[in-house]
Amino acid sequence: MPTAETIALLQTAYSMELETVVNYLANSINLDGVRAEEIKKSLAADITEEIGHAQQLGQRIKQLGGLIPGSASVTLGRQQQPSEDTTDVVSAIKAVIAAEEDAVAHYNKVIKATDGEDYVTQDLCIRLLADEEEHLILFKGFLKEYAKDPG
Ligand SMILES: [Fe+2]
Ligand SMILES: [Fe+2]
Repeated sequence: MPTAETIALLQTAYSMELETVVNYLANSINLDGVRAEEIKKSLAADITEEIGHAQQLGQRIKQLGGLIPGSASVTLGRQQQPSEDTTDVVSAIKAVIAAEEDAVAHYNKVIKATDGEDYVTQDLCIRLLADEEEHLILFKGFLKEYAKDPG
């Protein structure tokens, strides 16, 4: 695979990470109620981790000779938006699960695309995949509990 294609895949991942930051930040503040507190804390902690992912992707884009996109070139708007109902904790949890599933799918795609060609990018994406799988399992666990109890 040409380096330009690897750079494009990493730029997409970079945008996806930044979009999770925007939405986790919003939900970590928007949500109301006793049931929301643990979710807000967990989202607030994730923000730092997702920024760290964007930084690592940016470093690799740079090493490959690519440019890290600015705000006009970052692609946002693919993820589920924060609910207007600030007590709808379940919808916030489902939005996180959808975002993490997208991230898992994208990192799997990059891991396959770089196989045998770019082990450094592949290794980075394997590590990021492990983090996203951890987030996914955590929020699937939250959903099990929160979807059961209508509050
Ligand atoms: Fe991430
Ligand atoms: Fe994540």
